[in-house]
Amino acid sequence: MNIAIFVSGNGTNCENIIEYFSNSKDIKTALVLSDRENAYALVRADKHGVPTVVLPKPEFGKEAVLLPLMRKYDIDFIVLAGFLAFIPDFLIGAYDHRIINIHPSLLPEFGGKGMYGHHVHEAVKAAGKSETGMTVHYVSGRIDGGEIIAQFKTALSPSDSVDDIAAKEHELEMKYYPGVIEKIIRGL
Ligand code: GAR
Repeated sequence: MNIAIFVSGNGTNCENIIEYFSNSKDIKTALVLSDRENAYALVRADKHGVPTVVLPKPEFGKEAVLLPLMRKYDIDFIVLAGFLAFIPDFLIGAYDHRIINIHPSLLPEFGGKGMYGHHVHEAVKAAGKSETGMTVHYVSGRIDGGEIIAQFKTALSPSDSVDDIAAKEHELEMKYYPGVIEKIIRGL
């Protein structure tokens, strides 16, 4: 079972997932794909000897480019980890229920266009929430709109800064995302 991780930025989730599956006998991180050539996630992937490909947006959206690439690396399952480009319908069709995303809020709250990374935590702070969390969901044609697979929560206190909220939520991502991925792949 070969997974591809799609990234756009820092890559803490990407590296955590690579490390989690590094000793697996049957699940392998076969590719890290970035739409941005300066994504630090590419450095992390290199460090672990995982092949990387950079596919900027116009190319990423082309069926005749992306599907052969997935075939070349024999990709069975796609994991988005801080990937900010829109997933084209042809990919969703080719990988039905085999593309998942992580979002740093308890969807459906704080999802949709423009809601990524720090913007999410700022909105949670502004709304005065007493809890936040992470959501793993299938990718559909609607941004952050696919079927929810799992959510994990963490309590917030009024004195938490945006950075505190981000750190608490990030801790959940590190702790739970790889295990959720494995469960989905194994059909558990
Ligand atoms: C993660 O917090 C992830 O939940 C978020 O981007 C961050 C990527 O961090 N994803 C989104 O906001 C998607 N809408 P990383 O590059 O260090 O893994």
